[in-house]
Amino acid sequence: MDGECGSGPIPGFLDLLAANPDYSRDPEAQLGPLRRCPVHRDPLSRHVLLSRYADARRILNDDSLWRHPSRADPESIFARFVAVRSPPPDTPPGERSSILLMDAPDHRRIRAPLQKAFHARVFRARPLIEAVIHEALGGVAGRAAIDLVAELAIPIPIHAIAAILGVARDRLLEFRQWSEAIILTLNPFRSAEEESRAQAAAEALHGHFRELMAARRRASADDLVSDMVEAQAGGAPLSDTEIILNLTALLVGGNLTTTDLIASGVRLLLEHPAELRKLRADPALAAAAVEETLRLEGPVDFTPRIAPGPIEIGGETFDEGTPLFALLRAANRDPEVFPDPDRFDLSRRGAPHLAFGGGAHSCIGAALARLEARLFLSLFFERFPAVSLPPQAFAWRRLPGFRGLERLEVVLGPPRHRPRSAP
Ligand code: HEM
Repeated sequence: MDGECGSGPIPGFLDLLAANPDYSRDPEAQLGPLRRCPVHRDPLSRHVLLSRYADARRILNDDSLWRHPSRADPESIFARFVAVRSPPPDTPPGERSSILLMDAPDHRRIRAPLQKAFHARVFRARPLIEAVIHEALGGVAGRAAIDLVAELAIPIPIHAIAAILGVARDRLLEFRQWSEAIILTLNPFRSAEEESRAQAAAEALHGHFRELMAARRRASADDLVSDMVEAQAGGAPLSDTEIILNLTALLVGGNLTTTDLIASGVRLLLEHPAELRKLRADPALAAAAVEETLRLEGPVDFTPRIAPGPIEIGGETFDEGTPLFALLRAANRDPEVFPDPDRFDLSRRGAPHLAFGGGAHSCIGAALARLEARLFLSLFFERFPAVSLPPQAFAWRRLPGFRGLERLEVVLGPPRHRPRSAP
């Protein structure tokens, strides 16, 4: 397809990383030229970049495609950045990584019991999450202005997942430190110092999960760790290490992304007063605000699959092992699917966005992220009716593949004192 892409340079995979300041400042300036070439074989990364909604959706939902980077073209960036942290060769397949990078049949074996227990918890988690949000909002209520990222959007998802897992309140500070350090493993360009910090945190967290599992085997509690040891005792074929790796994946996959969703949602609403007025008039629109934030400013920029054999996309055939990257941000602004795609519009109807991926690997935490963000937007704007956005230069996090603000200064104004429950 490259031959038909017209004149001018087409951005490659490395141009689309948050570490590129031009991309962070204005992602659309890079994604725009890519749309001329919606199935783009990038020679440097050896990835195929898919920016059309239809192509992205098709590869996400095709469960015959592979995920583990060891199956990708060994010359590709995707294969190489994971190769540097391969586990010892005798490690059982289910213990090499979390489900995030795993293929069938182990992926299904591990994901099914985890998903069943986790979704049941999320379904009942609303009072717990409301309590976490009220506590966080109460903590800033006397302040004139805050960095919303540091004070609210970071701690809320960490405290919510800690409560769901069953981490004791007196271990919360350590849990938060481990969670924040483990996120460094998401950065393929991390320094040696960051790597050792992340490894130390992972070991401490894994040790804590082992203790919790032992404690719950002695006496069950109302939490996800109990659910998982009970599932195992009831015959679910899961090793202790598999449980621990995948409970850890809930933090790695869930905390920063939900932080970014909350902060981007607040920013977009404050930047679009007419939409905020609609939300204030009808608090049930919080769900629409969350979906529109996910579409327009999704926390994850792309997600990969690997061709399991020759595959045809957009009239071209790609060989087995070709990494295929669904560019979620580009797909979610595809003008063929979303009219006036760059507009933040709470009344938007039509095709669902792809911010949570799709198919067998679709985000296991989507319901939790949506619940947290929806409750947060409702309760935050209700509690702070005069909140405003002071002039500021936005700095975006430099973590490749993710889209989130480093800081978000907001002027809170006087709080309303009697918080209501969210709709
Ligand atoms: C707004 C917040 C979130 C966004 C935008 C997001 C996005 C994503 C995306 C794009 C994927 C890959 C999907 C694919 O390749 O098809 C994914 C997978 C995953 N997410 Fe999320 N996520 C969010 C929140 C969460 C939360 C709250 C959790 C857990 C508490 C979580 C845990 C995971 C896990 C474990 C996977 C791997 C699933 C698998 O490969 O089977 N995520 N997420």
